Amino acid sequence: MLIAHSIAELRHHLAGFTDHSFVPTMGNLHEGHLALVRQAKPLADVTVASIFVNRLQFLPHEDFDTYPRTWDSDCTKLEAAGCDIVFAPSEQDLYPEPQTFKVQPPAELADMLEGHFRPGFFVGVCTVVMKLFACIQPHVAVFGKKDYQQLMIIRRMVQQFALPIEIVASETCRADDGLALSSRNGYLSAEERVEAVQLSLALQAMAAAVRAGETDFAKLEAQAMAALSARGWKPDYLTVRRQSDLQAPTPGAPLVALGAARLSSTRLIDNLEV
Ligand code: PAF
Repeated sequence: MLIAHSIAELRHHLAGFTDHSFVPTMGNLHEGHLALVRQAKPLADVTVASIFVNRLQFLPHEDFDTYPRTWDSDCTKLEAAGCDIVFAPSEQDLYPEPQTFKVQPPAELADMLEGHFRPGFFVGVCTVVMKLFACIQPHVAVFGKKDYQQLMIIRRMVQQFALPIEIVASETCRADDGLALSSRNGYLSAEERVEAVQLSLALQAMAAAVRAGETDFAKLEAQAMAALSARGWKPDYLTVRRQSDLQAPTPGAPLVALGAARLSSTRLIDNLEV
């Protein structure tokens, strides 16, 4: 497996390959990331994974400084998963001068749900993903469904900018008890880790109610928020939306239940297609 710490090194390693598949990550890799790499592998003649903790998508009070940097174990895992090139630029390499050009996704996609609770988050995500796309020039990129809104916005960005990149969605990987795998699960104490599955259970209950014919979504959401709050969580949202654009449900539209909630100081997100 080759390693590139600069755009020049990356382009040198990529020379001679025609089809590039790409998995963007912020490192601290778990089985969910490795599943993306394994999915990307047969789609091209070279598979690139990036490891870059992107300051632009963190609010000042968030965990940019403490986000786990686990370079050695990340490389071991990526190599075992079949990754060919790791692109791990430093901030100086990726942003040698301040990134004053930014990708601004439309408010109707990016200011709700995650974007409402993390203002500017999707500007940061779109800007770095656009820049990584420019560096890697993939013909296919694999994103996890766990970040459902991110996946939707990246799809729209690729469409709007007519980028010749196929976006492939990968199913969420879960622990045996159903907790969605996430780098931030590592912040949970043993006791919190046991409790953490309640977020996915709440989404399962919402999805089951919708499948059973419930259409009072406001009532469902209020019940789910109250149930998690009663267990000591601080929910940001639990909601049922259309899969296509995450707007309010309309008759016949495929739906998804999405949630974000804080357990002590750890903010977890999850979703479940109905
Ligand atoms: O999903 C993530 O880990 C990040 O948002 C991404 C896509 C790597 C951009 O920094």
